[in-house]
Amino acid sequence: MTDTIIRSVKGMHDVLPPASRTFAQIEAEMRRVFGRYGFAELRTPIVEETRLFSRGIGEETDIVAKEMYTFCDRDGTSLTMRPEGTASAVRAYVEHGLAASDPVARWYYTGPMFRHERAQKGRYRQFHQIGAEIFGLSDAAADAELIHMLADFTRGLGVRGVALGLNSLGCPVCRPAYRAALGAFLAGAAGRLCEDCQRRRETNPLRVLDCKKEGCRDATADAPASIGHLCAECAAHFAQVRAWLDAFGDAYALDPRMVRGLDYYNRTTFELLATDPEAGAQNAVAGGGRYDGLVEMLGGRPTPAVGFAIGVERLAALVPSAKEAPPPSVDVFVMAVGPGTVVAAARLASELRAKGITVELDGSEKGFKAKFKRADRSGAAFAVVIGGDEAARGACAVKALASRPLPDGVKQVEAPLDGAAAFIAGMLA
Ligand code: HAM
Repeated sequence: MTDTIIRSVKGMHDVLPPASRTFAQIEAEMRRVFGRYGFAELRTPIVEETRLFSRGIGEETDIVAKEMYTFCDRDGTSLTMRPEGTASAVRAYVEHGLAASDPVARWYYTGPMFRHERAQKGRYRQFHQIGAEIFGLSDAAADAELIHMLADFTRGLGVRGVALGLNSLGCPVCRPAYRAALGAFLAGAAGRLCEDCQRRRETNPLRVLDCKKEGCRDATADAPASIGHLCAECAAHFAQVRAWLDAFGDAYALDPRMVRGLDYYNRTTFELLATDPEAGAQNAVAGGGRYDGLVEMLGGRPTPAVGFAIGVERLAALVPSAKEAPPPSVDVFVMAVGPGTVVAAARLASELRAKGITVELDGSEKGFKAKFKRADRSGAAFAVVIGGDEAARGACAVKALASRPLPDGVKQVEAPLDGAAAFIAGMLA
């Protein structure tokens, strides 16, 4: 006996049944809905070269500056456990030369992501994302269709109490003028900003709008908004996104302060927020936007792209069945008692499972009493007993358990082992 229990790493959690059923339900819905929109699944490694993320997400972001799980490989290469999926999707798109054949790719992915954040409710150090990315389409229709797919997906899961926020961050043409206007505003408010924002004001002024500290939010309440500084092309693109969303019937609210926590975005950005105050500060269920410069920045041909990612833990908290998921039910409890029963029990359990019947097989050394106790707990309709005597006769005993009496109040019937699976399936039907 050791005197210390080994626990999971802080901020990294087990997903036990029945919560794991909600995860499976979410993944099944992801495949069903995203498949209908023509998306195919992408699987990338969990570990990538660090420079993929530092270059892709941006050195000034919290993720790269403070939150990455980075370590040296044995040959000295700096590696990082992925903090998000977009940079890896772009790396795969460029590495496999997909732009050369058909630049349009629609991919989705799911898996664990890692960020060394201050752990609290809704914020973990290992969490899961479901993401979707479209490469090769610059039209506003692609942005709107992704947002619509996100709404379709969450609606299909019965999620209520979420609202979509929408913004446009402009492009390299209009961003410099906006940055200058914001910079001038922030210079006037510098004395009221936190220490981090004093620095961000110089390095990446848009980040200041993302600061959660109340003082900084107050100081920037009247800061200029990017949607007021869009060039003609970006303004037209944003108007089209909105027209498409109206056509799809998707509700949204403009959120001019939304800058997102990653540097690769241009034009459309969006977030799906939980409106219930219980969600607290960690109320962003999903976020995404356009990142037309990232493929080229990571060595590919200029390729427009747009995508989003959902936090699975935060989504699961909003899926109604999360609280109601019934435990998995066992149909038949097969017990082998005594020598010479192993072959018959193994064969019967296999035959029943092949018929789609859920079987718990107890082949332990325990006696009848202990086994029946376990059978009663399992919730099975019947116990099937194969003792030495039955096995010798080529038979098994089917016994009623509390949850399902046999017809005519009979407590037990004997059935030949040959054909027993069909006999039991008939009784369950
Ligand atoms: P993100 O906003 O950093 O975007 O993350 C997306 C979602 O992941 C968040 O809305 C949240 O639900 C969840 N999430 C993030 N951090 C945590 C955490 N520490 N604990 C629990 N959940 C968390 C991205 O990752 C972009 N790659 C999205 C994207 C895809 N943009 C374009 N394509």
